[in-house]
Amino acid sequence: MRRRSVAILAATGAVGQRFIQLLENHPWFDISVLAASERSAGKRYKEVCAWRMETEMPKEVGEMTVVNADLKSVKEAGDVDLVFSALPGDIAGPIEESFATELPVLSKAAAHRMEDDVPLLIPEVNPEHLELIPIQKRRRGWSGFISTDPNCSTIQLALTLKPLMKFGLRKVIVTTMQALSGAGYPGVPSLDIIDNIIPYIAKEEEKIETETKKILGVFDGERVRLADMAISASCNRVNVKDGHLEVVYVDLESKPTIEEVKEAFRNFIGEPQRLKLPFAPEKPIIVRDEIDRPQPRLDRDAGRGMSVVVGRIRNDPVMTLKYLCLGHNTIRGAAGAGILSAELMVAKGYI
Ligand SMILES: NC(=O)c1ccc[n+]([C@@H]2O[C@H](COP(=O)([O-])OP(=O)(O)OC[C@H]3O[C@@H](n4cnc5c(N)ncnc54)[C@H](OP(=O)(O)O)[C@@H]3O)[C@@H](O)[C@H]2O)c1
Repeated sequence: MRRRSVAILAATGAVGQRFIQLLENHPWFDISVLAASERSAGKRYKEVCAWRMETEMPKEVGEMTVVNADLKSVKEAGDVDLVFSALPGDIAGPIEESFATELPVLSKAAAHRMEDDVPLLIPEVNPEHLELIPIQKRRRGWSGFISTDPNCSTIQLALTLKPLMKFGLRKVIVTTMQALSGAGYPGVPSLDIIDNIIPYIAKEEEKIETETKKILGVFDGERVRLADMAISASCNRVNVKDGHLEVVYVDLESKPTIEEVKEAFRNFIGEPQRLKLPFAPEKPIIVRDEIDRPQPRLDRDAGRGMSVVVGRIRNDPVMTLKYLCLGHNTIRGAAGAGILSAELMVAKGYI
């Protein structure tokens, strides 16, 4: 396998740092360029990055010079086969488009997620949506392309909904308890969140409600037909560092037993597991039987942060079923998701 050179846009932020940590010693990918805002450009990475990972900043990364996040500066800085973009959503749109004229862009930002010809990918859930890429390239006249990963709370939710679709998924109600690192760094002021829960996260509920239908939708050869289901979300910021916990209620056409539901979760695998991709967790969904799991501190690192942990699966007197799910928001919800998506694209010949 030929190694691929990777540029990271917004390399100094919470997600950018996680990319750097997870790509250290990756068997297929080498970091060749780090880009961020004008504030950081021209300086060494270790001078401008407030490194907040639990492991040391890789030495060679610390010495790299950060460049501006524009195509010309990035190409001048090194060879690039693909671009991971962790740009803020409000500026990502045109910058990612400019890169995509020449290079594959895998985006963590919301800017292009709901566009008709852009995949909104979870490798285990909808790998066939990658077939939008040749359509996008043709339509836009690009030699590169944009593929997006969903919002962090949506990824873990959609992963758990996929195995339930065979029971006829009709309605979903989800309440999230989302970690602080989801707001980036430095994120939420400490005096706002200590001793508190904030019952609002800008644009988060809309993202869950729209993105889930696209992810679970069917690719008809030209576009994705949105899944025919109703979904309602309420999002809260809680005083936890990493790991989003979600309470999920589902209404199903058939009435599976709890054991059948557990089996569906436990047996669920996808293309990454079949292809044995380096970042694929052995089990995308881990079911815990203890009455008080999942918990962020105990379960967020399951499957090296790439597994979603499900527990407290019960019948519900109003809907059919209820459960909790937990995922690491900057690994499965962000950088790890991006890396797994890139691996799938390499394995399938898109990169
Ligand atoms: N945190 C999560 O759990 C999570 C999960 C999924 C998706 N996301 C998405 O990922 C993206 C990044 O989030 P984050 O949490 O990493 O944010 P963050 O910690 O606030 O970092 C922001 C990053 O954007 C860079 N930046 C700001 N303005 C820029 C500009 N004009 N040009 C180029 N770079 C610029 C910053 O560089 P400087 O240091 O130079 O200012 C920094 O690297 C967002 O779109 C977010 O919605 C986040």
